[in-house]
Amino acid sequence: MKVSVVILAAGQGTRMKSTLPKILHTLAGKAMVEYALDIAGGVSAKPPVLVIGHGAEKVREQIGGRARYAIQEEQLGTAHAAAQAENLLDGEEGLVLIFYADMPLLRQETMARMVELQSINTGPLTILTVRAEDPRGFGRIVRSKDGQVNAIVEEAGAPAEVLEIRELNAGVYCCRADWLWAALKRIKVSPKGEYYLTDLVEIAAKEGGKVNAIVLDDESEAIGINTRIHLAEASAILRKRINEEWMLAGVTMIQPESVFIDATVEIGEDTTLWPNTYLRGKTSIGRGCEVGPDTIITDCDVAENCRIQMAVMEGASLEEGVVMGPFARLRKGARLGKGVHMGNFGEIKNSSLGADTRMGHFSYIGDATIGEGVNIGAGTVTCNFDGVNKNPTIIEDGVFIGSDTMLVAPVKIGKNSKTGAGAVVTKDVPPGTLVVGVPAKELKKVKDKQPDDARK
Ligand code: UD1
Ligand code: CA
Repeated sequence: MKVSVVILAAGQGTRMKSTLPKILHTLAGKAMVEYALDIAGGVSAKPPVLVIGHGAEKVREQIGGRARYAIQEEQLGTAHAAAQAENLLDGEEGLVLIFYADMPLLRQETMARMVELQSINTGPLTILTVRAEDPRGFGRIVRSKDGQVNAIVEEAGAPAEVLEIRELNAGVYCCRADWLWAALKRIKVSPKGEYYLTDLVEIAAKEGGKVNAIVLDDESEAIGINTRIHLAEASAILRKRINEEWMLAGVTMIQPESVFIDATVEIGEDTTLWPNTYLRGKTSIGRGCEVGPDTIITDCDVAENCRIQMAVMEGASLEEGVVMGPFARLRKGARLGKGVHMGNFGEIKNSSLGADTRMGHFSYIGDATIGEGVNIGAGTVTCNFDGVNKNPTIIEDGVFIGSDTMLVAPVKIGKNSKTGAGAVVTKDVPPGTLVVGVPAKELKKVKDKQPDDARK
């Protein structure tokens, strides 16, 4: 059956105490509202209608074409918010699924079950409920003696016997489109001055239509976010879900509670994540890697069999078998070829290192193109910034850079050349040449390729 989705997101989220609209706060690297859009995508191919008000511009800017927008100028309650979608959906047949954008733990399967149950319901409406000891201010589900759902009663002003009810409104509604818009118009303003969407239930029940209810098995799905305490709780649950999914997919975690993986990350089988590891943004980690402890990787592509210890990396790519750290830093545009070794206290920015190049200790490489099998001695610096411009350094295959060499860019070191310890290289070095001193001068030609054991 055809389903349209309406997501309510116009509230201010006052209790977040934030200049950022509530639904743009992130959990596991994704904005709250994106979780809502994702589950909407599971039941309907058409972009959902997002009802926005507070912070509407910021929301639009970030979400763009992933949603259609209805503006609720004044926040007069959830029923009033839902009614704003009528213009966009009027005349559409089938079902309408309505839920709140501040519930990022709702599962796709739950939405599919709602739609399924409503499509065989003789009545106009199916709701989602949850049983919980702590009512958290949720609406209470009132059932008749024979178990039929009769009403949702909001906490404010509810009589004592209703407040005792522990079946709560989770805030997801699936109803017939041809019934919804007229029913919304029949909702009366509450004593608090708001139009409650929850009144749909009583309207349906009074008409004699059956209101179906799905009771959630997993209480956590119904967590709605109103404060930063809720945000932290929901993040913790989400992280646990994500970690468990990866463990079931073949990823080992030495201490899952201290591993933080964004919802946007990919990880290959037989990779091990050590404690205090953060995988963030658009990061992918290949098979058979060892990552951490104490590592933050953001927006990086790491191929298989890499070992990364105590590193901070962003916007970098690593080919197979790279060994990094401990204490290593990769910045945007660092590209490490197959089998590269980068030891402690190094930094690489906007540079590529060819296969089997080694950079063991204390070096800075920026804006450089480095060939294969290059040895970069301890303390080497590409002096890429002259105070005005960033300049490039080129180091060709098989070069041996002596310890503490300063490469004053722009500069190029030809194939199989060498620099002496402490050299300050200010001019291009032709292939097969040893340069030494300050400023570096040619000492002799070197024909021999460095013996393999020098690179160990
Ligand atoms: C709502 C339900 C309550 C349920 C709970 C579950 C109503 C009246 N009550 O209460 O039964 O147990 O959610 O989390 O629906 N919004 C608008 N425009 C408005 C008002 C709200 O778009 O004028 C949006 C908010 O941005 C939010 C959602 O609707 O995303 C829910 O509003 P909120 O004020 O948080 O409702 P609750 O009091 O939590
Ligand atoms: Ca809420």
